[in-house]
Amino acid sequence: MSEDLQIARGSKEEQYGSLLPQIIALMEGEPDGTANLANVAAALKEQFGWLWVGFYLVREGELVVGPFQGPVACTRIRRGRGVCGTAWAEARTLIVEDVELFPGHIACSSLSRSEIVVPIFLGGEVVGVLDADSAEISAFDEEDARWLEEVVKAIPGVNNNN
Ligand code: SME
Repeated sequence: MSEDLQIARGSKEEQYGSLLPQIIALMEGEPDGTANLANVAAALKEQFGWLWVGFYLVREGELVVGPFQGPVACTRIRRGRGVCGTAWAEARTLIVEDVELFPGHIACSSLSRSEIVVPIFLGGEVVGVLDADSAEISAFDEEDARWLEEVVKAIPGVNNNN
């Protein structure tokens, strides 16, 4: 089976609308969390070309970097720190239009200008986050939040690699 991603052009609605079913198909029947997260990160990077996109997973009380696409990133983030640690602590999606205006933002890349972090829930607990960084200001909005929340809900086996 070909694993080529069909890249859609157009509005965010059109791009996510094309991508989400392909992401679901990529993960179909695959229980391995690392495999699924790796393909989701790659699919999002291919479609949107963001600077960095990937996962941080809760491991023994800290966020530890997981599968991602983009420049090397900080390995561990404490609860309540940075955008990722805040999204974890507050158990909600955070959209940061200008990272320079977010107190405590952790600058893994000096090129990052805006960011979205979406928590991943399992049994009511946050078990990780999806993080996307853009080199453009205000790249992310409520529409991205809605779609990316659908993306993370579609991932099976997120926390099965402890
Ligand atoms: N900027 C994030 C850190 C992770 S990197 O951007 C990949 C933060 O403030 O939590």
